[in-house]
Amino acid sequence: MAIFAETITVEALESDPYPIYQRLREETPVAFVPAINSWLATRWEDVNIVSNNPAIFSAEDDDAPVVRHFGSPAIIHTDGAVHKELRKGLAAHYMPAKVASYIEELARPIAKQHIERFRHAGQAELMSEFFEPVSVLCLAKTFGLGEIGSDVLMDWFHGLAMGAINFGRDPERTKICDDTKAQIEAVLDPILTRLETEADNSPLSHLLRHSMPEGQVRSRDFILPSVYVTLLGGMQEPGHGAANTLFGLLQNPAQLATLRDDPKSWITRAVQEGVRWIAPIGTQGRSPVEDFEVGGIVVPKGASISSVLASANRDPAVFDHADEFDMSRKPSTIASFGFGPHFCAGKWFANAQMEIMLDVLFEMLDDIRLVPSSQPEFFGWEFRAPTSFKVTFAAK
Ligand code: HEM
Repeated sequence: MAIFAETITVEALESDPYPIYQRLREETPVAFVPAINSWLATRWEDVNIVSNNPAIFSAEDDDAPVVRHFGSPAIIHTDGAVHKELRKGLAAHYMPAKVASYIEELARPIAKQHIERFRHAGQAELMSEFFEPVSVLCLAKTFGLGEIGSDVLMDWFHGLAMGAINFGRDPERTKICDDTKAQIEAVLDPILTRLETEADNSPLSHLLRHSMPEGQVRSRDFILPSVYVTLLGGMQEPGHGAANTLFGLLQNPAQLATLRDDPKSWITRAVQEGVRWIAPIGTQGRSPVEDFEVGGIVVPKGASISSVLASANRDPAVFDHADEFDMSRKPSTIASFGFGPHFCAGKWFANAQMEIMLDVLFEMLDDIRLVPSSQPEFFGWEFRAPTSFKVTFAAK
């Protein structure tokens, strides 16, 4: 009889990983999956061991799709001093107090403008008309990219994602990612040329020159892999997290009504529950520096292991009725933003943005309903969100 993990395919994971994670948690919580050439750690306890022990589980992994496609050093696959250097450049603009100083002025008008465009149409496809464009514009405007249209930015993250999810080494996905990187570099070239001589306050500028001797900047080869990581996660995930949350709310009308009656009390809890229930980023990739036993299994030195955050979030040992969306569950730590030194540097920015997107949506539209003949279809295990999200509504 085939061992379950050996029968898992990339297609099955991308279609719906949750039944797979459930079986793995119950039968083989740390298992090697040949289709992705990686081990999966699926229980909360083991996810914490893998993600929280950088001395054993290194983030460096030349085999990881992000490293193969974006190059090295890519922030999420670095350790120690190089990691600190990259993180310091990126993180300052996304720390809680800093975010609080600009997020309302930044995100609310962008969200309102996008809803205004379809407010009187009675229907919309929320991924392409709302969640994704708002999310990409918020990141682009804070990151130092200037004025680039949302369609271009959305193409960028969709194209970069093809590389980051390419566990199966599909040449078509590689080509899409390479073409996207070439387009991004063409746009970034004049921006970086300017920033190399004239500093500004953007993360891109900080990444080039923080802690460098006066007059010196980091090389483009050094910063670009981490720029791709940030463009991908930073542009894609808040839109996807907000969409996952809305889907949970629309399937639970009583919770939606409670939220609409008192958004101030519920919006934060709803968003945290939305990204717990369907984690927009599924894993943290690691590699043990020595043979190491976790979950009763020895993972060999140098192997790739994915610490599956999405599965930890559904572990019944930690969350009651874990497969259900329930915004009234007692607030507790969730795995969605990762653990350890690489936990999400954009967590506060993302949370504030998701809350504003949904707040504006409920403020401007009434009676939002899924279209029965066209239910949202979800895709992905490394990144998971609806591919389309059609709703009807009434303008308020
Ligand atoms: C709901 C939205 C988001 C979720 C669920 C999310 C989740 C995550 C996770 C799980 C990681 C760890 C990855 C790993 O260790 O392999 C991560 C890292 C990171 N995230 Fe986010 N993210 C979100 C939004 C953002 C945004 C908006 C930004 C923009 C600034 C951002 C920037 C980063 C960066 C720079 C890292 C790398 C941190 C490091 O390696 O030290 N993220 N994120």
